[in-house]
Amino acid sequence: MAKVKVKTGFVCSDCGATYPKWQGHCSACDAWSTIKEVRLGPEPRSGRRDGFAGTTSPVTLLKDVQFTDEHRFSSGSEEFDRVLGGGFVPGSVILIGGDPGAGKSTILLQTMCHAAASREVLYVSGEESLQQIAGRARRLQLPLDRVKMLAESSVERVLEAAESERPAVVVIDSIQVMQSAVVDAAPGGVSQVRESAAAFTCFAKTSGVVLIMVGHVTKDQSLAGPMTLSHMVDTQVMLSSTEDARYRLMRTTKNRFGPVNELGVFAMTEKGLREVKNPSAIFLSRTENAAPGSLISVLWEGTRPLLVEIQSLVVSAQYGSPRRLGIGLDQNRIAMVLAVINKHGGLVLADQDVFVNVVGGIRVLETSADLAVALAIVSSFRNSVLPQDLLVFGEVGLSGEIRPVSNGESRLKEGVKHGFTRAIVPKGNAPKKEIPGMKVVGVTSLSEALDAI
Ligand code: TYD
Ligand code: MG
Repeated sequence: MAKVKVKTGFVCSDCGATYPKWQGHCSACDAWSTIKEVRLGPEPRSGRRDGFAGTTSPVTLLKDVQFTDEHRFSSGSEEFDRVLGGGFVPGSVILIGGDPGAGKSTILLQTMCHAAASREVLYVSGEESLQQIAGRARRLQLPLDRVKMLAESSVERVLEAAESERPAVVVIDSIQVMQSAVVDAAPGGVSQVRESAAAFTCFAKTSGVVLIMVGHVTKDQSLAGPMTLSHMVDTQVMLSSTEDARYRLMRTTKNRFGPVNELGVFAMTEKGLREVKNPSAIFLSRTENAAPGSLISVLWEGTRPLLVEIQSLVVSAQYGSPRRLGIGLDQNRIAMVLAVINKHGGLVLADQDVFVNVVGGIRVLETSADLAVALAIVSSFRNSVLPQDLLVFGEVGLSGEIRPVSNGESRLKEGVKHGFTRAIVPKGNAPKKEIPGMKVVGVTSLSEALDAI
């Protein structure tokens, strides 16, 4: 038998960038000590390339390309469908990432049991035994009769079963335990995960099967976790838990077939995950006594509003350079807001530690919370309580101007629904027609906003 030449390469375990030789620093993602030598396996089998779209074509004019509308179908859960941009696209590869215990297996088991009513589903478990899964499905009272199960960790045998069963959806739980015979390395390592994921991706692209891979993320987001895989997949969905572990948040961080800003919310109950259809106020916990530095803002998550509490604490710095810490917020935006407060609000915070927290473990990804962050910081600094029925949103610009944000009126209306009676918002977002029950102050600059509180 011809000796198979083992190819090795150097791969960054965080971002998946490859290098011809070892180096300490990954120039692609700026991480240190993440580049490891991996066995890439023998020459790629014919027709298999990383990120390969499944078909090749001669040179064609764009106008001559025939196309059909994607035939999406439901995942079995409305929230999951919405996060994906309207359900599964045939031939797409979806990676579901999250910490162990985030609920990846639970959500997939629940949705697949329902999706199986209309499509063939094959659920491959390499982690839990079939008895364990069946026990859980029974406890959650899921429809069991149509889901096909396979306990397997060999890539080749999974593909064989998928070829013969021809399901519409294949779930791989998880990619970290899959092992391809082509690569002589332990499962879970970068080379095994890459090779297995590439084989599954190629299968999905050539067969039109929807392929869902589960991927665990370690604490430091590394080791062949979703970072390495995200180049290969069409859609990357992250499942995370809120601080109190009552809710699970689902968000796409990459999506070739839909939006990336849609947030799905599930409640973790003893009966599994329940969809939260109207999550706008789940993070609000009104206390009897209002405290300085606390303020409510409205975020816009995809197509829905979400009310969040911003808390700030400003205290004299004890040692050396003052600390600026943000939880759920971008550090750079906090630094920017502080600079604007200093220059255009006339408050000197240079000798103060500043902490800002978004309550509930939600991560703010848009700029509409800037004004609320600024006012919360000022409120804490002055030790003055802000009214509990006050709602604030708006983007803060470098010259102290307050810029309008999207969906202003809908944000205000959501506030009215939850009992807010006044609001400080960008002038451009102040409605022309009065909103019943809500007194809106439109501001154009930070100093106007400070005068309004
Ligand atoms: P699981 O789906 O096994 O997590 P993952 O596959 O992401 O590692 O979820 C496990 C967690 O969910 C576990 O901490 C218990 C909790 N859970 C419930 O609270 N209720 C339930 O009905 C189920 C099935 C799980
Ligand atoms: Mg699991």
